[in-house]
Amino acid sequence: MSFTVAIDGPAAAGKGTISRAVAARFGFAHLDTGLLYRAVGARVLAGEDAVAAARSLTPADMARPDLRSPAVAQAASRVAVEPQVRAALVDFQRGFARQGSGAVLDGRDIGTVICPQAEVKLYITASAPVRAARRHAELEAQGHEMGLDAVLADVVARDARDAGRAEAPLRPAGDAVVIDTSQMDIDTAVAAAIAVVARALPVAPD
Ligand code: C5P
Repeated sequence: MSFTVAIDGPAAAGKGTISRAVAARFGFAHLDTGLLYRAVGARVLAGEDAVAAARSLTPADMARPDLRSPAVAQAASRVAVEPQVRAALVDFQRGFARQGSGAVLDGRDIGTVICPQAEVKLYITASAPVRAARRHAELEAQGHEMGLDAVLADVVARDARDAGRAEAPLRPAGDAVVIDTSQMDIDTAVAAAIAVVARALPVAPD
């Protein structure tokens, strides 16, 4: 039996950390679907056509060291508006969701479009200033120099583009459990997510 956990939410809300922790706790595979869009965005910044890049992504594209940069994040959210780019990435994501005993996928449209039948849907959010402060600390740790105001502007612009697009806009699925991490430390947020998944797991027969 495969069990799918769909985790969506805006930029820098804590989805990545929560997804990795949920996957580790239950022994599930994990796919950060943002990396697919980032890999396409990185190839577009290098001069390629977005749709052609999305149709020919390789594991090497996903391992590029520059995928976490702010420039690539913005490029990702620009290519993510294009329906043909999104369509090219659907089968890979759905195939991943069905593998093994379970999978965690995190992104923007997992519970709404990619895996609408997911056993668990979480929507992880936090206020824009809190998310910007977290992203700022992350970027600093990675050696990117960017002021907090610029990071906030970046996060707000990306949210607006992701939530405002016609195709697969960022929004919680109707049946998603919303976790607002604005006032939570990461351990509390992870524990809240794990509790939701644990409640939904089928009880093993004796
Ligand atoms: O999650 P991450 O910040 O890495 O995502 C980068 C961008 O990729 C997002 O801003 C969004 O535009 C796009 N994305 C998407 N659908 C997903 C995952 C990411 O449109 N499932």
